[in-house]
Amino acid sequence: MSRTISAVCRNITPSATLRLNAIVNEKRAQGLDIIGMGAGEPDFPTPDAICAAAKQAIDAGKTKYTAASGVPELRKAVADHVNRLYGLSYQPSQVLVGTGAKQVLVEALVAILDPGDEVILPAPCWLSYPEMIRMAGGLPRVVLSTAADGFLPTAKALQDAVTPRTRAILINTPNNPTGAVWNEELLRAAGELAVQHDLYIISDEIYETLVFSGARHVPMASIGPEVFARTITISGWSKAYAMTGWRLGYALGAKDVIDAMGAYQSHATGNPNSIAQYAALEALTGDQRSVEDMRLAFERRRDLMLKLIGGIPGVSCAPPQGAFYVLMNIQNLVGKSYKGHEITNDDVFTELLLEHKLVSVVSGAPFYAPNCVRLSYAIADDKIVEAMRRIAEFVDELT
Ligand SMILES: Cc1ncc(COP(=O)(O)O)c(C=O)c1O
Repeated sequence: MSRTISAVCRNITPSATLRLNAIVNEKRAQGLDIIGMGAGEPDFPTPDAICAAAKQAIDAGKTKYTAASGVPELRKAVADHVNRLYGLSYQPSQVLVGTGAKQVLVEALVAILDPGDEVILPAPCWLSYPEMIRMAGGLPRVVLSTAADGFLPTAKALQDAVTPRTRAILINTPNNPTGAVWNEELLRAAGELAVQHDLYIISDEIYETLVFSGARHVPMASIGPEVFARTITISGWSKAYAMTGWRLGYALGAKDVIDAMGAYQSHATGNPNSIAQYAALEALTGDQRSVEDMRLAFERRRDLMLKLIGGIPGVSCAPPQGAFYVLMNIQNLVGKSYKGHEITNDDVFTELLLEHKLVSVVSGAPFYAPNCVRLSYAIADDKIVEAMRRIAEFVDELT
């Protein structure tokens, strides 16, 4: 038994969305006209000024190791940006820049969890959270909410999930996969719970710029001084600036936690990509018009999606208020068949839809949303119309 895979790695479920991307790319390579509603990334190109800043960084020779937690000017720019937007008071030393929100999320969990510690996880939630919690030695304690509750947990359900092993609550607003946006009252209730039980709050706000129809993004850290002190906010450039491939994200929090995360990062990866850091600096300090332009495009597409889903009998959804996903409920289609294949769950629905109508969506089960599928509307309007036409045709052909 000398050469075995560790328990940590044995228990990791590979990302279902990345696996789906690989299948879609394979089918595209075969020349098939697949419409991908699975990906979690804006279809827009990274704005020109940001790309230009990266080119300048290369020409200026900014291609060497940097400080492991990010160059000082970027840490300062992140603090200034967040303080200006939300009236907060972060110092640059309370900012960690890492290789994507993904990396800083893992580091936050590693920094605060000991083996067996529990993290309260409101769900449906992003499928990476439970894996990340386990990778850091913790245990997710899932608190489920439903479409009828607008996919927001009740304060009582959060309270009931607290045990002597609870160390943190991990929230995500706006939410992937539901598009739910936490209101101030619920944030306050979760914040009070954290204060009462002396818990950390990890607040993933990566979709913060993407809120619609009058909804407002309220950062958890703005709820009050005691909540500010215990909140580790996670965000980044991927969604707001269409910079998914640049792999840059940040965390904000108490200096001791940020230092601990930075120490881990300094050994695990070292600094995030130097060129991407200068691009990210331009993103935060340059013209912000493209952020609003993209938000408006997503809002228009969301409305289009809601109209088209509303026209398909047997499916339903709770209107999302943020991010760029709709969680479509297919419960009423379970038990029906497509060309002799019974739809027994969302996985089978997803496979049959991809096989027969060349539309890729993600099944809800890994997000704790069984009998649902997640549709991403980060694709062009005409593709949305065609994808929904194919889905409607598929549903119509069920027996
Ligand atoms: C909720 C949530 N957090 C974090 C991320 C990862 O962001 P990044 O590209 O900065 O690693 C994603 C990406 O899909 C996400 O949906």
